[in-house]
Amino acid sequence: MPFISPADRYEKLLRAAVLGWICCIAVQQYCEAGGKPAGRKEISHKITLEEPRMKGPISVEEAITRRRSVRRFLDRPLSRQQISQLLWAAQGITDKTRGYRAAPSAGATYPLTVFAVTPEGIYRYLPAGHELELVRKGDLRSLLARAALDQPWVAEAPLDIVITAEPRRTTGRYGQRGMMYIYMEAGHAAQNIHLQAVSLGLGSVPVGAFDDDRVADLLQLPEGHIPLYIIPVGYPR
Ligand SMILES: Cc1cc2nc3c(=O)[nH]c(=O)nc-3n(C[C@H](O)[C@H](O)[C@H](O)COP(=O)(O)O)c2cc1C
Repeated sequence: MPFISPADRYEKLLRAAVLGWICCIAVQQYCEAGGKPAGRKEISHKITLEEPRMKGPISVEEAITRRRSVRRFLDRPLSRQQISQLLWAAQGITDKTRGYRAAPSAGATYPLTVFAVTPEGIYRYLPAGHELELVRKGDLRSLLARAALDQPWVAEAPLDIVITAEPRRTTGRYGQRGMMYIYMEAGHAAQNIHLQAVSLGLGSVPVGAFDDDRVADLLQLPEGHIPLYIIPVGYPR
């Protein structure tokens, strides 16, 4: 039996304690990372938006009266609160129990998706969590303007909201007539955006003239999705 001095024994005990402690921390971090090795946490590309406000400074009647198509914008960015409000007006959840949204939908089939094209990148709006999900990084507004037959207001606006649809969600239930419902629904969402913009002191214009394929490519739309509307929004110049 080799002789172990009390000092050696103490050192061994200390080493074991430190090792145990390091293991505990590693296990804790592994668990916190959701079972993924620490240091390789998945980067979240989602942004939770600010709560939308439920009261505004002007009446619906005033907003309807004041709305005009605006095609010249100040070079001034919109705040996240403003973007949150506009996207909520388009497709936000207004009935949390049933998941119903700000704009009506034939049979509550909800075929629409809304994108925010900003100087920072292209984001998909996720109504369920009132979140933005990054689709593409970078300022792609001038490419969107080119796809919109070179309409300069698309490039100048600090925000372009693009409404797209997955038709089979609605045509699956209503057949070919579902296509008409989808266009109607896009109109509802678009008008909500226009009136919300007025209420925020902003201007907007509906843009229907664009090359579908180029817009779909830019937004990296999955198969079976189509672009319906581009709505530039900003401070009127
Ligand atoms: C379906 C639709 C498509 C439109 N497309 C465009 C467009 O591509 N570019 C544009 O500058 N304006 C577009 N407009 C805006 C109209 O030109 C505008 O609404 C019209 O001149 C009436 O003016 P107001 O919106 O100020 O009432 C579109 C409007 C609608 C309803």
